[in-house]
Amino acid sequence: MEYTVMMPAAGSGQRMGAGYNKLFLELDDKPILIHTLDVFEKDPACVGMILAVKPAERERIQSMLTQFSITKVKALVAGGSERQQSVAACIRAHGEGGIVLVHDAARPFISQSVIYELVQVAKEHGAAIAGVQAKDTMKFAPVGIVEETVDRSKLWIIQTPQAFQYTVLQKAAEKAEAEAFLGTDESMLVERLGHPVRIVESTYDNVKMTTQEDLVFGEILLRRRQGNKDDSSRTRF
Ligand code: CTP
Ligand code: MG
Repeated sequence: MEYTVMMPAAGSGQRMGAGYNKLFLELDDKPILIHTLDVFEKDPACVGMILAVKPAERERIQSMLTQFSITKVKALVAGGSERQQSVAACIRAHGEGGIVLVHDAARPFISQSVIYELVQVAKEHGAAIAGVQAKDTMKFAPVGIVEETVDRSKLWIIQTPQAFQYTVLQKAAEKAEAEAFLGTDESMLVERLGHPVRIVESTYDNVKMTTQEDLVFGEILLRRRQGNKDDSSRTRF
């Protein structure tokens, strides 16, 4: 089943503290952005990519795509000051229907099998998001004093990709814009339509490169995956 991926890449990486967009930081001699794009470049089901970028970074990103042989990017659109606006620009640029995935450019470790399942579930049900179950004990404490220990088995930590039938996502984005609602992910916008959103179980290594510690973890993951390629008898991480 074919899909198009929309990738917000127009952030400034404040929490990483590099002083510039963290997506340009290199893991194993390749920018984080390219690691993420590579996953989709290699997936035959991915028929196109739309990237939201800062206008000032457009040329640099364009030449990186050439340098690293990323061929599926159909459009580089101007991102906004909020992530949701960057995704909205991608949605406007697509306008074709089918299945679309929204995926953070800062998550290079998404697995192919999770992408596959998200696409299947979105095709059948309209909306599917990647998530993992909470591992720690969870408490509800709005002012720092515990009110309740929440049943962990019912809680999910949500990641990207989030997959949708294009018409569902477009309707959700239009409604959010008309009502000036700002959510933290695309699922929230779809939930506001009253459309059910299914969770597809993802992996704990699909981390977002957000702070310096994430880079350390990222380096380890890459080395481990490289090791797995060289020696297929090793356990996959
Ligand atoms: N993003 C975007 N447009 C924005 C803000 C974020 O396209 N206005 C993108 C980022 O480039 C990233 C993804 O959304 O790929 C997830 O955002 P996040 O991890 O928060 O990245 P930044 O916003 O860059 O980092 P920070 O919040 O620490 O500044
Ligand atoms: Mg941010």
